[in-house]
Amino acid sequence: MLGIIGAMDQEVAKLKEMMTEVEITKAASMEFCKGKLNGTEAVVVRAGVGKVNAACCTQALIDHFPVSCVINTGIAGSLQASIDIGDIVLATDALEHDMDAVSFGYGLGQIPGMEVFSFTADEKLRKIAKEGCEKVNPDISVHEGRVVTGDQFVSSKEKKTWLVEHFDGCCTEMEGAAIAHVAYLNQIPFLIVRAISDKADDSAHMDYPTFEAKAIEHSVRLITEMAGRL
Ligand code: ADE
Repeated sequence: MLGIIGAMDQEVAKLKEMMTEVEITKAASMEFCKGKLNGTEAVVVRAGVGKVNAACCTQALIDHFPVSCVINTGIAGSLQASIDIGDIVLATDALEHDMDAVSFGYGLGQIPGMEVFSFTADEKLRKIAKEGCEKVNPDISVHEGRVVTGDQFVSSKEKKTWLVEHFDGCCTEMEGAAIAHVAYLNQIPFLIVRAISDKADDSAHMDYPTFEAKAIEHSVRLITEMAGRL
């Protein structure tokens, strides 16, 4: 069974519409929608925005359903000039950019007491996503790289530059690494699939609403294709 988490209604609404044999379960103030997506057993859930909602949702998903992997879908801000609005980013790994225990000698983003600096996405899921994307989104560029997550909508050149300098991120969003973190603690494979809605700079607040729908369309098409391959 496949677990699919999006932060906002818009990111999961189309997936829910496409599901058959739907059953709803409520937990942690969230609605878990179980059914078949493109022939595969799946649970789709809206977590809400930010790391705490995402972490709570992921643990509830794992506790209530026998999911064999967790996929986080949605939109993100690009951190690289070569990654354009509408493109897809598949995570190689993810980290929490607002974790700061530097005063105690840790690196920026490093979580005290944890063995890993970033959470590594599952290779098999990455391969399936890449192949699936080339089939269903042939005109869209697919990139692979680090996703940097924080409780912040990034919309300034300064913050964008800071994220690139410190973490070499590909894109930024507000849930992915929290989902990855919980999946890691539960030893469940994960992947973050994000479509780019803005450039995470001074134009981000204007670009975001304009391109949100298009970006979501691309990620929904890919997630549906992936479900059929899993
Ligand atoms: N999600 C989409 N664009 C984003 C941005 N610029 N910062 C954080 N999360 C985002």
